[in-house]
Amino acid sequence: MSIRVIAIDGPAASGKSSTAAAVARRLGWAHLDSGALYRAVTLAALDNLRDPGSEMRDAWSPQRLVALAEDLPVRLVLVGDVFRPEVAGVDVEDVIRSPRVTARVSEIAAIPEVRHWVNVQQREAVGTHPQGVVVDGRDIGTVVFPDAPLKVFLTATADERARRRLAQRGDRIDPAELQRESAALGARDHADSTRRVAPLRSAADATLLDTTRLSVEEQVARVVALARERIPG
Ligand code: CDP
Repeated sequence: MSIRVIAIDGPAASGKSSTAAAVARRLGWAHLDSGALYRAVTLAALDNLRDPGSEMRDAWSPQRLVALAEDLPVRLVLVGDVFRPEVAGVDVEDVIRSPRVTARVSEIAAIPEVRHWVNVQQREAVGTHPQGVVVDGRDIGTVVFPDAPLKVFLTATADERARRRLAQRGDRIDPAELQRESAALGARDHADSTRRVAPLRSAADATLLDTTRLSVEEQVARVVALARERIPG
């Protein structure tokens, strides 16, 4: 039997996490946000290691980052049907969304040793849920779970993604703010798509879903329908 994983990949603010969470709820599966692990490792580095931007160039060495993640530890804890990120026993779901973490996460996520560590955590976590797990990220269908029976790649125009991200944060949506947010998302997408290891891209066998003109309800319904078609209950 194939693994019970639904892989949802896509660029920044394409609606992966909210879609994955809603799909998981509808199916009675768990939700795992792989970006939360990269964010939690980034938070741990910012709080515990000297910044490589300062005098010590190797402060964020791959070995130190992985040792820190192991020791604190950084981990995912299944609470109900959601894997929540913890650092040293503290739930960090909110603080990992801060601009301080967002600005540095792509740098951390480009380090192969960190990716390997994160992938091991994800594969272990998936085995602990009896139904199945909806996993969202950048490389879930291509690298982490290439055998997933359903892979979805979500896209939306850069402007629409910027608008959603501002709305999600409760920020004012004016043309200047939109332009600034769209540029920030574009920079992160560029970094994520051009890195050497596990770049952001759609798996050859993924279903492409452009959500620019879809409501959250509509995109969730499409993924749930695909899941019911492809994956035996
Ligand atoms: O802000 P958004 O929800 O779009 O991003 P996220 O899913 O929280 O991911 C934050 C960052 O982690 C991304 O910009 C990537 O650099 C990295 N990431 C990754 O490299 N691979 C994944 N599977 C998930 C996230």
